[in-house]
Amino acid sequence: MIHARGLVQTFQTRQGRKKTEVRAVDGVDLDVAEGEVVGFLGPNGAGKTTTLRMLTTLLRPTAGTATVAGYDVVKESEQVRRSIGYVSQAGGAFSGARAGDEVMDHGMLYGLKRQVVEERGKRLFEQMNLDGLWTRMPKNMSGGQKRRLDIVMGLIHEPTLVFLDEPTTGLDPQARANLWEHIADLRTRRGATVFLTTHYLDEADVLSDRILIIDQGRIVAADTSDNLKAQVSGDLVEIEVTDDHQVGDAATRLAAVIQGDTEVEGRIVRGRVPRAGRAVPGLLRDLDRAGITLEAIEVHRPTLDDVFLALTGRSLRDAEATAEGRSEQTEGPDGSGQGPVGTSTGTSTGPSTGPAETDAPEGALR
Ligand SMILES: Nc1ncnc2c1ncn2[C@@H]1O[C@H](COP(=O)(O)OP(=O)(O)OP(=O)(O)O)[C@@H](O)[C@H]1O
Ligand SMILES: [Mg+2]
Repeated sequence: MIHARGLVQTFQTRQGRKKTEVRAVDGVDLDVAEGEVVGFLGPNGAGKTTTLRMLTTLLRPTAGTATVAGYDVVKESEQVRRSIGYVSQAGGAFSGARAGDEVMDHGMLYGLKRQVVEERGKRLFEQMNLDGLWTRMPKNMSGGQKRRLDIVMGLIHEPTLVFLDEPTTGLDPQARANLWEHIADLRTRRGATVFLTTHYLDEADVLSDRILIIDQGRIVAADTSDNLKAQVSGDLVEIEVTDDHQVGDAATRLAAVIQGDTEVEGRIVRGRVPRAGRAVPGLLRDLDRAGITLEAIEVHRPTLDDVFLALTGRSLRDAEATAEGRSEQTEGPDGSGQGPVGTSTGTSTGPSTGPAETDAPEGALR
């Protein structure tokens, strides 16, 4: 359903007066089979949205090729658009009409009959817990309600291939659970293919048949969650010492107990051991005897975050924090200094729109 080879996207950015080039996506190969639900994970700034925007024809690849639903994203962008649903991370721009009318217009752009759109739209409103909001203006909806409206718009034409960019961010637990159900349903009932990004690792774990992890524009892992976790052997033991001077000593003692390598980060020492339950009591006695005081000790079963840690030497969480701290002034391709992400003020673009030049507004296509 999706095949990409050597996808690259570079952006010109400005830091102060200096211009630099960001390689947001740096040679991505990926294959997604029909009916698969694929979770696309990575820290902030890893290149997830940029990859999605290339696959949904909103951004022309700097290099590389991709076919989506059998169509080339550059040469056959119109057919690609007709075949997919897309819920962008930034959300769509709404025109000021009532929510139900937005949905009607959007469905009819896809050539659906009024009655069909209305039926489907009202059903989706119910499923997304938007009952009673059909005649509400989107600007008077809460953030989570608007997000759910985005999702309704992305699914109204019942696409068999859906791209969802952080669909559950900002949703309450109930709404998240509803969406999970809906996504599972899309696949089982209609054989739909779903490609979604998320920062909730539990969500990726539950929903996805397969996980792709991207870091700094490159795919670093692609497999089932179970297989990925199996690559990370053993439980992670993490101890935090109270006194900076005791870090080295604690690391040596942990290394002896687990008979393997340890890693030190500030006052935290961590290492993997096949069975933490057996190793920890002895470790605690040993540390106590040596007069090393602990702030905390934690044991973790392998998670997707551990997979990322094992692959890159960083935790996904830490990587996020670092990426968030980095601030860049970005520049649109026309040199206007306007970052295109989330700045859309245009109305929805239907399937009859011509190919995107280089950078259509985010959320123009659903
Ligand atoms: N229009 C743009 N101009 C300049 N740089 C950009 C532009 N769009 C994205 N970038 C940069 O490309 C990199 C990848 O961004 P992208 O939005 O794809 O990340 P992401 O994985 O979706 O992150 P997040 O989890 O925060 O949504 C980042 O360094 C970002 O700053
Ligand atoms: Mg993103």
